[in-house]
Amino acid sequence: MNERSRPIRHFLSLLDLSATELRALLQRAIELKRMQRAGTIYEPLKNRVLGMVFEKSSTRTRVSFETAMIQFGGGAIFLSPRDTQLGRGEPIEDTARVLSRMVDVVMMRTFSHESQALFAAYSQAPVINGLSDTQHPCQLLADLQTYAELRGDIAGRTVAWIGDGNNMCNSYIDAAELLGFRLRVASPAGYAPTQSCASGLVELMEDPHAATDGADLVVTDVWASMGQEDEADGRKEAFRAYQVDQALMRRAHPDALFMHCLPAHRGEEVAAEIIDGAQSAVWQEAENRLHAQKALLELLLCGPVS
Ligand code: CP
Ligand code: NVA
Repeated sequence: MNERSRPIRHFLSLLDLSATELRALLQRAIELKRMQRAGTIYEPLKNRVLGMVFEKSSTRTRVSFETAMIQFGGGAIFLSPRDTQLGRGEPIEDTARVLSRMVDVVMMRTFSHESQALFAAYSQAPVINGLSDTQHPCQLLADLQTYAELRGDIAGRTVAWIGDGNNMCNSYIDAAELLGFRLRVASPAGYAPTQSCASGLVELMEDPHAATDGADLVVTDVWASMGQEDEADGRKEAFRAYQVDQALMRRAHPDALFMHCLPAHRGEEVAAEIIDGAQSAVWQEAENRLHAQKALLELLLCGPVS
């Protein structure tokens, strides 16, 4: 059995971090990025292994975690249900007990959030949510790092979420609560997020224009998430008035940024002139998956950096 003195910490949602920890992690991500740019070799996870369970496709999540582990001196193993016993019905509880005796940390991208919670309950190693039906917390780490780099503290700012009340939107709700920014969510009727928001910082509405007025950051995501392909046509109809285009973006603060977790559909949730335009931060946002997740892996496996 692996011996670990540190209590196991999972990262299934942003709320697994305190506000103080999240702020420190974002600063650390910026520092790790600076170190990488400077060519500094830093290998705190030498000989450590990340197991990556992917039930759904991925470009950014897979490559950023794998690269993070290599740069940190360790390694990563890609595991697909298609070619592991998970896909043949081996229980999640048994898989968790076995995998976590071999690898040091597990990243999971699953359809169901409950699968990750179940895995975590039986895991001896930290479990990181690399996207579930209800959350995408790693993406928020990258988005928040990007905002901090380009505009400074997000506390007190206004973020407009335009479109589906999906996994990304839920994680934005958690981020608003933790970091103290206002979040206006504009979704068509029937597509509002279900995530609760106790603080009064989150406002749900249907009008994308009202949501965007004066916003400091405008964010959107695909109208049909992975697993909702059958609903794509109906959703295109329902979301037609929710494209982030020039007319909508003009209502935001002149300094506003545009973000999208990617992959994007130009001409659907975002106009090409916006995602490819001057206010778009999407490429920096995508790169920051690497740096933010290095900070997360370091926190979970080595503890806070003093
Ligand atoms: N944003 C994001 O999670 O991208 P991938 O699906 O490519 O991992
Ligand atoms: N909401 C999207 C995010 C993809 C990174 C999905 O779940 O497919």
